[in-house]
Amino acid sequence: MAVLVEFRGVTFTIGGRAVLRGIDLSVEEGETVVLLGRSGSGKTTLLKMVNRLVEPDGGEVRFEDRPVSSWDPVRLRRRAGYVIQEGGLFPHATVAQNVGLVPKLEGWPEERIRTRAAELLDAVGLSPSDYGSRYPRQLSGGEKQRVGIARALAADPPMLLLDEPFAALDPVTRYEMQRHFANLRRALGRTALFVTHDLREALMLGDRIALLNEGRLEVVARPGEFLRARSPEARTFLATLGPDRQDYAAG
Ligand SMILES: Nc1ncnc2c1ncn2[C@@H]1O[C@H](COP(=O)(O)OP(=O)(O)O)[C@@H](O)[C@H]1O
Ligand SMILES: [Mg+2]
Repeated sequence: MAVLVEFRGVTFTIGGRAVLRGIDLSVEEGETVVLLGRSGSGKTTLLKMVNRLVEPDGGEVRFEDRPVSSWDPVRLRRRAGYVIQEGGLFPHATVAQNVGLVPKLEGWPEERIRTRAAELLDAVGLSPSDYGSRYPRQLSGGEKQRVGIARALAADPPMLLLDEPFAALDPVTRYEMQRHFANLRRALGRTALFVTHDLREALMLGDRIALLNEGRLEVVARPGEFLRARSPEARTFLATLGPDRQDYAAG
């Protein structure tokens, strides 16, 4: 299988503090790798290196077999759809305009942009006729998040970067979004790097889980193996499952 993203010995220090210390990790085409870690462990910093919002100060990040430093940042960002908390939508653009943003930048004809936006709103479970002309302030948190995902998918990028996209949602909506995202991603066969601090979410969505602890990758494992991981930080996360741990181990 082809490697889409690769981190090679990546380090990052800011204000005298080592935020990332020698990260080696590959993301293969079609898989979802979840970056799991507590707040401040370096997840967002690592994710942002893929689309060059942050540059490493040691090592190398590669995308599609080329160092990201040799990519035009604009082109790179169009090949890596980015989803953040609350969707990061433009408040003065309608839902349809938000979704059609990248296709418009790519110079698609209006009609094709409209069709594509409608198709994607359908795919994330929002009726285009009902939602297309609304503004972000007229949406619930879960709806904004759906639009954010539709927007990231609009120009059909090979890669999705998601930074705690569901963290701000109420538990029921979050669960629905997790299910929906899992199905959608499988249907599209998309590659994803997904940041979360929630082990349940990591177990549900990840083909592999990469556990960051103080800027180091402590465990990289499939969900079933992760449940048996013995590193101290992995155990700390596993303890958050409480009695449910048995269910995960069984299923
Ligand atoms: N631009 C920055 N300036 C100062 N500190 C930063 C900057 N970016 C990240 N950090 C620090 O790096 C650490 C990791 O941050 P981050 O990658 O956002 O962690 P996470 O996403 O896992 O919560 C934190 O301690 C944060 O304060
Ligand atoms: Mg973060």
